[in-house]
Amino acid sequence: MHLLELFAKEITAQGTLWAFACWLVALLVLAAAPDREGLKPRRRGATFLVLLGVALVPATVLSRSQNLSIADDLTLFGSIVSGIGVVVLLGLIVFDVALARLSVSLPRIVQDVLVGVTGLLVIFSTVSRAGINLTQIVATSAVLTAVIGLSLQDTLGNLVGGLALQLDRSIQVGDWVRIGEVTGRVAEIHWRYTALETRNWERVVIPNNVLTKAQVSVLGRRTGQPLQWRRWVYFNVDFRYPPSMVIDLVQNAIRDQPILNVAANPPPNCVLMDLCDSYGRYAVRYLLTDLVPDDPTDSVIRTRIYFALSRAAVPLSIPAQAVFVTQESGERSEAKRQSDAAERLRVLAQVELFRDLSTEDLQSLSRSLQRAPFARGEVLTRTGSTAHHLYVIRRGQVSVRVGEADLQTEVAQLSAGNFFGEMSLLTGEPRSATVVALDDVECYRLDADAFRSVLERHPELANKVATVLAERRVALLATREVMDEEKKKRLLASNSSDLVDKIRDFFRIV
Ligand code: CMP
Repeated sequence: MHLLELFAKEITAQGTLWAFACWLVALLVLAAAPDREGLKPRRRGATFLVLLGVALVPATVLSRSQNLSIADDLTLFGSIVSGIGVVVLLGLIVFDVALARLSVSLPRIVQDVLVGVTGLLVIFSTVSRAGINLTQIVATSAVLTAVIGLSLQDTLGNLVGGLALQLDRSIQVGDWVRIGEVTGRVAEIHWRYTALETRNWERVVIPNNVLTKAQVSVLGRRTGQPLQWRRWVYFNVDFRYPPSMVIDLVQNAIRDQPILNVAANPPPNCVLMDLCDSYGRYAVRYLLTDLVPDDPTDSVIRTRIYFALSRAAVPLSIPAQAVFVTQESGERSEAKRQSDAAERLRVLAQVELFRDLSTEDLQSLSRSLQRAPFARGEVLTRTGSTAHHLYVIRRGQVSVRVGEADLQTEVAQLSAGNFFGEMSLLTGEPRSATVVALDDVECYRLDADAFRSVLERHPELANKVATVLAERRVALLATREVMDEEKKKRLLASNSSDLVDKIRDFFRIV
């Protein structure tokens, strides 16, 4: 047969002509398609396969003219490669042009699987048209089956893993995830791997079967909540500065003016994380609403912390080991004792109750005072408990409350120079109210024995205390029942004399 005739016969028999025509049409259609990720490499791959099929035709024709047995194999191979090329091109036209126009977007892995399955069907049909029974070969050859099975093991694991990830939507393209050491945004879920793009402009490729076995943290995702991710910004402040003050300072500075990419709800807060060697370790915790600018937003928070502390003259602590060496000398301890004593006297002298006491009495009383600091929110006395001390407030403010935990009513607020806890201490009754610190509070406490010795020397003090006590009692009663001024006066008078007796009785003072 003439060579040209043979060529025409071969090119149609292989389907190469049709593949070539398809390729030309596809090139035109795809030229108009938007440049999507992965389109160009796949188009290049398909072009290579179709052109390889075309290039094989002359070789097939020559070998057939020479009656070489390889001719049939070349025909089969040419059909397969150009067939696969066409399938890939069709896939691009369907998924990247037609469906994209209709705004339908199938996950990449589904596209790959559909193209892959169609490609396999093309191979099977081409091979069986050539008279080869592939199924029988695979089924009867145990070695071949084992080889194919083993080599496909990983690939199938990846494929199934990728499909599972897509179907159960545990991770999706665009999610921010942390897998082991790597944190990045899911850029692509391919049939073989999942690609992450990190903030450092790296592309990390993780095989899907690894991903299905690994622990994956999806950042910022919580059911029914907007995307936001909690961040921690740490700083250290010396022990000399009370934690409540530092927390207030920093929290106010951060909440004062909204910060870009920091969620307003829940608002950022500051917590004391640890008490270290010489400093308190704090953290500002906030929710980041855009997961990309993590370090820049941390930096804004840190800057606010720095300036808030600077304004209040609170320096950030320098982590350092310091050894304080104090040479104890007689004068030093005497000076310290004197300044303590002076402060106690000053506080006692402010208390209305002790105003008429002589300096010696005040001094003797002040020696029994013990320092008792409380943090904001702490309970200083609790309703119903047994009394051991009377408290004199040196600094801060407390709230006196009655009633059950959730339904407490405030009856009074007391600040520096006031005292509380006298009712039970002087009558032996259980505590009549709960006293809570409204800010950091510093008190001095006095025990019953010290008070007894003052009362013994100044029995008239009992009347004075009884008057305060009666007033407070009436105020407490008034929270439970409505009473007019007349009734309050009557109660005050009867309570006062009762209480004087009670106090004298309790302290066995005649
Ligand atoms: P005590 O009962 O020992 O413990 C709770 C304290 O709260 C009580 O002593 C008083 O010192 C104080 N307290 C009770 N009622 C009042 C009030 N109305 N005003 C001020 N302080 C009060």
